[in-house]
Amino acid sequence: MSVDLCGIELAHPVINGSGTFDVIAARRVFGASLDEQFPFSAFVSKTITLQPRIGNPPPRLFETPAGLVNSIGLPNRGLAGYLEHDLPELATLAVPLITNVMGSNADEVGELFEALEGREEIAAIELNVSCPNVKTGLDIGSDPAELHRLLAAVRDKTSKPLIVKLTPNTADVALVASAAEASGADAVSLINTLRAFAADPAQPGKPWLGGGSGGQSGAAIRAVALAQTSAVAAAVKLPIIAMGGISSAANGRQFLDAGAVVIAVGTESFRDPAAAGAIRDGLAQLA
Ligand SMILES: Cc1cc2nc3c(=O)[nH]c(=O)nc-3n(C[C@H](O)[C@H](O)[C@H](O)COP(=O)(O)O)c2cc1C
Repeated sequence: MSVDLCGIELAHPVINGSGTFDVIAARRVFGASLDEQFPFSAFVSKTITLQPRIGNPPPRLFETPAGLVNSIGLPNRGLAGYLEHDLPELATLAVPLITNVMGSNADEVGELFEALEGREEIAAIELNVSCPNVKTGLDIGSDPAELHRLLAAVRDKTSKPLIVKLTPNTADVALVASAAEASGADAVSLINTLRAFAADPAQPGKPWLGGGSGGQSGAAIRAVALAQTSAVAAAVKLPIIAMGGISSAANGRQFLDAGAVVIAVGTESFRDPAAAGAIRDGLAQLA
């Protein structure tokens, strides 16, 4: 079951999707039993930005027939708060830590990379490129040329393995993955949420979510995620971390068969915090 992810030895192929498992809160609830039965072979932090963000106004979640539309807005303590408060606790996990970061331009991303560079506790960086470009409004990761420009400017600011978390909200995800590969990414992860809208049943035409629009996750996006994983696997040699609606070992297996080396469980952990452990055990049975 063990896998190599850019030189990081993982005991099995199941990790968490960024922002979908609050391990610090879960430890408070489950205590030592969480560590004893830790479901993930690496832990991915939620997205950290340079400055603190309070996130979007509530409501932030809308349940759909097969998943969630979220508009959380990436609340986080910012880089300094992460280093001071979260990193010391995350570093006590028994598995490698992957820190997920996002910046709205190369200067911000470069500063984040440089600040994390000397932190031995961090095994790898995941760069979330689902961030709108302030000029065009498009996600930086939706355009291969824009992603190349960003990575060319920041890649040498970290010696850690760099995972680029692709956005599915693009015309051709394989082209974007190829740009990531050509610009020094060590792995790609996909998919992030698909742009979505939840209508307020009480107010026609108005959004339910406080942030306006949101992103769909869960079983509803699994087929899209599988298609994008296959397309990326055909286009690049990089290791792929695949996610999107994985809720059983059988569908986790489909992502591995489509070319992923690691799979991540996201929305399913909200329904059942033990889901990833069951998926890991089920994969061992299927192997
Ligand atoms: C509530 C929620 C919060 C999320 N927060 C982040 C985040 O901070 N950074 C990120 O890169 N992705 C974030 N994601 C996206 C997930 O990591 C994952 O890519 C996506 O949800 C698809 O997987 P799933 O269908 O298994 O949830 C979030 C998703 C949800 C549902």
